[in-house]
Amino acid sequence: MPQINHIPESGITASWQTPSNIALVKYWGKHGRQLPRNASLSISLKNAVTRTTVKLLQALPGEEGKIVSFLFDGKPNDAFASKVQKYFDSIQGEFRFQEAVKFEIETSNSFPHSAGIASSASAMGAISLCLCELERKLNPDLSDENQFFRKASLIARLGSGSAARSVYGGFTVWGKHAEVSGSSDEYAIPLSENIHHLYHGIKNTILIVEASEKKVSSSAGHNLMNGHPFAEARFVQAEKNLGLLLKALQSGDWNTFAAITENEALSLHAMMMSSNPGYLLIHPNTIKIIDKLKSFREQSGARVCFTLDAGPNLHLLYPEQETEKVQPLLAGLTEFCYNGTYIDDCVGNGPVNLNYAL
Ligand code: PMV
Repeated sequence: MPQINHIPESGITASWQTPSNIALVKYWGKHGRQLPRNASLSISLKNAVTRTTVKLLQALPGEEGKIVSFLFDGKPNDAFASKVQKYFDSIQGEFRFQEAVKFEIETSNSFPHSAGIASSASAMGAISLCLCELERKLNPDLSDENQFFRKASLIARLGSGSAARSVYGGFTVWGKHAEVSGSSDEYAIPLSENIHHLYHGIKNTILIVEASEKKVSSSAGHNLMNGHPFAEARFVQAEKNLGLLLKALQSGDWNTFAAITENEALSLHAMMMSSNPGYLLIHPNTIKIIDKLKSFREQSGARVCFTLDAGPNLHLLYPEQETEKVQPLLAGLTEFCYNGTYIDDCVGNGPVNLNYAL
């Protein structure tokens, strides 16, 4: 068994808080080792976060690379633990310490389960940041911040594609795109410059239409894009939409922002419906909310639009200064929400190194 000399008997820990994100241009379809078929663009959320602590301990023979304790919201969770164990097995070789240590993991979310918030993005993002943090604790030569986040994004991607975007705050792009310099299929990059002030603090109110588990997993959905009759057209559309959205983000052209964002949401669900077998993740109330939103927008002129993730819950997006104007719309929509529930969130600054011990 290789010896890692710097691990004290009490172990070493890393703790990160990492946001979930909502894609405006959707990633749908992948190839190879979790590589995207098109570039995607998302905003990282402020309040919907995962907090994770990973502790490394020298492994006894037979324990190498194993998760020996896993707590989710303070309780053991075998299903989640075995998912993370599989992920760790799949990234053997990415971190030298893996083959000499065992892991203790504690993780919790700030948001409820099945709330239409991508928990795998924040969970995998947080675990990856912790692994990279442990690596740099063991090797202080790894001091380059850009490299650190790039590797964290790449490792997160291997756990869940959309997690690649969660290691940054603000607006993030994952996937090679002709108009985003430095963009890559391997990792996400932050879009920090040239975002019009209209979008600073952009709000995301998540209307919970259904609080149950997804009927079809994202990985099954991605797989159905292989051989999908409209796949190639979809990848071209996403490439074009990302370019148009970038311009709208720079210029402050809200109408284009809204049109592209909604087109992406509906196209994602159109891909699901037209795959073989086809399936529907939206609910009748999702459609009612979209109709209400459109007529409210026409009457009030309020700057508000929607997006959808791979589920029935609706994400309202609006500039911070539009909050008051949007209240009457919200008041009229809660009757279509499960138990009247919605969650208020907005764009956030990204992960936080919590750096506390278990
Ligand atoms: O990260 P995955 O493999 O769960 O895929 C997520 C895909 C969508 O959430 C539907 C879109 C996206 O870009 O986040």
